[in-house]
Amino acid sequence: MTRGLPVRPVRCLPPAAAGVCDAGVRAAVRPGRPVADNGAVEASPSWPREVVVLGSTGSIGTQALDIIRRNPDRFQVAALAAGGGNADLLAGQAAEFGAAVVAVADSAAAAEVQAALRRHFSRTGGGSSSRQLRAGDPAPPAVLAGPDAVCEVAAWPCDVVLNGVTGAAGLRATLAALDAGRVLALANKESLIIGGQLVTARAKPGQIVPVDSEHSTIAQCLRAGRTGEVRRLVLTASGGPFRGWSRDRLGGVTSAQALAHPTWTMGPLVTINSATLMNKGLEVIEAHLLFGFGLDRIDVVVHPQSIVHSMVEFADGATIIQASPPDMRLPISHAMAWPDRVADAAPGLDWSAAAAWTFEPLDDAAFPAVALAREAAAAGGTAPAVYNAANEACVAAFLAGSIGFTRIVDTVARIVSEHDAARTPATSVADVLAVDAWARRRALELNS
Ligand SMILES: NC(=O)c1ccc[n+]([C@@H]2O[C@H](COP(=O)([O-])OP(=O)(O)OC[C@H]3O[C@@H](n4cnc5c(N)ncnc54)[C@H](OP(=O)(O)O)[C@@H]3O)[C@@H](O)[C@H]2O)c1
Repeated sequence: MTRGLPVRPVRCLPPAAAGVCDAGVRAAVRPGRPVADNGAVEASPSWPREVVVLGSTGSIGTQALDIIRRNPDRFQVAALAAGGGNADLLAGQAAEFGAAVVAVADSAAAAEVQAALRRHFSRTGGGSSSRQLRAGDPAPPAVLAGPDAVCEVAAWPCDVVLNGVTGAAGLRATLAALDAGRVLALANKESLIIGGQLVTARAKPGQIVPVDSEHSTIAQCLRAGRTGEVRRLVLTASGGPFRGWSRDRLGGVTSAQALAHPTWTMGPLVTINSATLMNKGLEVIEAHLLFGFGLDRIDVVVHPQSIVHSMVEFADGATIIQASPPDMRLPISHAMAWPDRVADAAPGLDWSAAAAWTFEPLDDAAFPAVALAREAAAAGGTAPAVYNAANEACVAAFLAGSIGFTRIVDTVARIVSEHDAARTPATSVADVLAVDAWARRRALELNS
């Protein structure tokens, strides 16, 4: 097993290449150098890669394990981590993939996970086949529990850490993986956004590989030219289930409607964020931090079919796109294998059937979340953390039935406006977590 992939030297988006953008904005929030790698496409040195999957029971995690299951010559599971809400699924994954250790963030779930592991191992002896336990069969994995357990697993010896935890809870694991020198396949955009420079300063060039389909696409498209030739990045947005709705009509949206995304099947937080367009706002900040371009060079366009996953426009007017059916197994597999591709990770497009791809501008009046993200990113420091934390609290309130749909972004806007980022230190994780806690408390006050 290799211990950590070699991290390639900076080949992408040197700061000078970020070019014509608002200097104040860049000084406020950009890391000074890109952390995603769009370097040369080289053959990988060794297979299989040992992967730690954080958030293994979620939408990203289970799709990652599907890739690993189908590609045993490319990937092996070193360790798994989850919140603790799905003990039986987690134990079944550990038994099937032979994880050396599993972690649960909720200490109270540890006993349930232990019991589920005993059931799975007495049934199968580990491994996916169903048979009686025999002498010499692998022992159940160690179970770690509590807030630090997920970080311990994030630093476990491996080649790639996939962070598929949902929400701000992923921050410490992201930092632990980076500090341990692991390549970080990052689905948990929240950790990058709230951590800001705390994350980017720790990341070596190329150490973070994006999993978000838009950012994976941009990394792929950037290979088509030199960074100094890039004019702008264009993120595509499906528009969510309420595309075309007026703000008045959005007032009556139910959680069931908001959870029914037209093109993607995802966890509840990111699904609601897609309906409000908060997710696209988070992705604008994510692109800014990952690739080092100014906010004024990152556009958003609505593309309801979710076939074109984003684009890079070059100085000569050429736009390079990546197109494939909406299936996260493609960007997940590419991130785990980066810079290689995994054959048959997901189905390609069917060119024998007639299809139309449409593009339309974002309606900022009905969906102000992206403009608000730009404001938070421009304010810099802890403002993006406030944007994210206030949103997570408001989404929870919406799903609990305590607030209406439009109240989510309205409350986030109010809390962002109340926060004085310039006077709030953002020099440590404790600073960020204190601001995160304040924004959640404030949301609770405003929504009660
Ligand atoms: N789903 C997608 O298609 C998609 C696409 C692009 C980006 N993303 C991003 O990927 C991340 C995960 O999204 P998702 O849709 O996969 O979410 P999800 O389905 O809700 O899954 C979340 C996972 O995180 C675990 N978890 C929750 N709290 C945790 C904690 N404190 N420590 C460790 N693990 C914890 C959950 O464990 P339990 O099951 O035990 O609760 C579960 O395994 C998000 O940042 C999202 O924005 C997702």
